Amino acid sequence: MSEIDLTRALSFGSLAQEYDRWRPSYPPEAIDWLVPSGAREVADLGAGTGKLTGDLLARGLVVHAVEPDPGMLAVLRAGHPLARTHLARADALPLEAASVAAVLVAQAWHWMSPYETTVEVRRVLRPGGWLGLVWNVVDPRADWEFNVHGLTPETWRQEEAAHTVAGLPFPAHEVETAEFAWTWVGTSEAWLANIATQSSISTMPTAEREKLLAEKRAILANHLEAAGQPEAQVHHRAVCVRWRPASDAVASDQN
Ligand SMILES: C[S@@+](CC[C@H](N)C(=O)[O-])C[C@H]1O[C@@H](n2cnc3c(N)ncnc32)[C@H](O)[C@@H]1O
Repeated sequence: MSEIDLTRALSFGSLAQEYDRWRPSYPPEAIDWLVPSGAREVADLGAGTGKLTGDLLARGLVVHAVEPDPGMLAVLRAGHPLARTHLARADALPLEAASVAAVLVAQAWHWMSPYETTVEVRRVLRPGGWLGLVWNVVDPRADWEFNVHGLTPETWRQEEAAHTVAGLPFPAHEVETAEFAWTWVGTSEAWLANIATQSSISTMPTAEREKLLAEKRAILANHLEAAGQPEAQVHHRAVCVRWRPASDAVASDQN
């Protein structure tokens, strides 16, 4: 995203409960890849309601959950009382210099000012630490999946080519990437509730949003009826990035 749409960036809090209920988390293999071995203390920026925070806490990590939206942060605090929470933006981190082994950002880097946030990430990372990014992206295979996402194989290829990873402000030789396939399984109503929390949909005028959701509901219903299944299987990939600043790469101390 070249210019950040602030209306959408700041839209999540009004749907915080729905977001927490319906949005998926991230595959365990992706989190394994994103967390440095031996890490004890990490930051989760744009932590939202704590989808990633909870998985990090479950690994025994001390987690600084940084989130600027009070509605999202309230849900995170209620669900994850062990998190050290901060009502703050990613470009002004209330964290000590060289204090965390990793800065992690799930489904949120594209809402942050890339250069200001990068300066802050470098400041708070311990020597040898890294920034880890993850996005869940759809990975359509069957015709009905392309249809329900409003994609064709051609538009999907274009979206892939313009993927967020391509625009990251880090030197290519300092960046590693990995992808982890996973499948979302659930009823059509659960899928619609999930996508209704996407800012591109939640910020639409009501009539337009209802029309779009009705179209998707019909595609899902047709597919499930033809397949004779109660639940849909929607293919995804967790797209992951690690950026380790080169000047810190020789240090081995992780935390
Ligand atoms: C799609 S949600 C992702 C939440 C959570 N990380 C997850 O994986 O579910 C994006 C989050 O980024 C937050 N956000 C938007 N602008 C931000 C900024 N400048 N700094 C930090 N977080 C921001 C939003 O408030 C929202 O909670």
